[in-house]
Amino acid sequence: MEDLKKIKEVAEAAAREAGRYALSRMRGDKQISHKSGFNDLVTDVDRKCEKIVLDNIKEFFPGHSILAEESGREDRTENYTWIVDPIDGTTNFAHGFPVYCTSVGVYAGGKPAVAAVYDPNRDELFSAAGGEGAFLNGERMSVSRAKELKSSLFATGFAYNIDRKIKNLEYFKVMLAETQAVRRPGAAALDLCYVACGRLDGFWEMDLHPWDTAAGFLLVMEAGGRVTSITGEGYDIRSGSVLATNGLIHDEAVRILGGANV
Ligand code: IPD
Ligand code: CA
Ligand code: CA
Repeated sequence: MEDLKKIKEVAEAAAREAGRYALSRMRGDKQISHKSGFNDLVTDVDRKCEKIVLDNIKEFFPGHSILAEESGREDRTENYTWIVDPIDGTTNFAHGFPVYCTSVGVYAGGKPAVAAVYDPNRDELFSAAGGEGAFLNGERMSVSRAKELKSSLFATGFAYNIDRKIKNLEYFKVMLAETQAVRRPGAAALDLCYVACGRLDGFWEMDLHPWDTAAGFLLVMEAGGRVTSITGEGYDIRSGSVLATNGLIHDEAVRILGGANV
């Protein structure tokens, strides 16, 4: 087994370096292009942030595999995979709306092992290693204690595909009626961190990618929360559907979401 401590250090340093670079570019000119449609953006800063993270990984762990949002998959022989979202919240970033982060998750033998998510606007580093708890700027963090949806704050996110956005509005409707409020901050990795540290009681989204959730999944679990699909099945980062809560309100959330006209 590789030294998980060293992997965590490199993941944290890489997320910080990339996030700080993104912050330094937020106000100036950016080259913006489109991916799947007019609302699915990527900037030159996303690509540079990804290069910063990948250069760190390759310097210290040249035998590890990588799955990164902008450059895809690089398979290598060792049993570790780094899953990287260089800027989660690119739409926010492109508009200068200060809610975005860099997310780095490391899987070992198919299981989440290390997580580092850095929010440069708040200088907050969320990190975890399997079995060792979850931390915010070095302080142990844990999920909230809300016991029912009626006392909870949730967040969600919408896919870039318009049909899927409209489907999620059905979930939104039922959850608005049952919770204190539902937010849409715009960076799924950070939404998961906020569940992990108790600022949110829960979060769901329909069509996420492994790079959105690889780190956040481990952070929520290590902070004492629960993560499944929206319908309550065991979580699989390839499936897209995610429901993360403090655990106490999970079954109620599955039941209420299950009543949506999706
Ligand atoms: C997006 C953000 C957003 C979520 C989208 C993601 P990106 O990631 O996490 O909150 O609603 O589904 O694709 O494109 O900014 O890396
Ligand atoms: Ca993302
Ligand atoms: Ca991204």
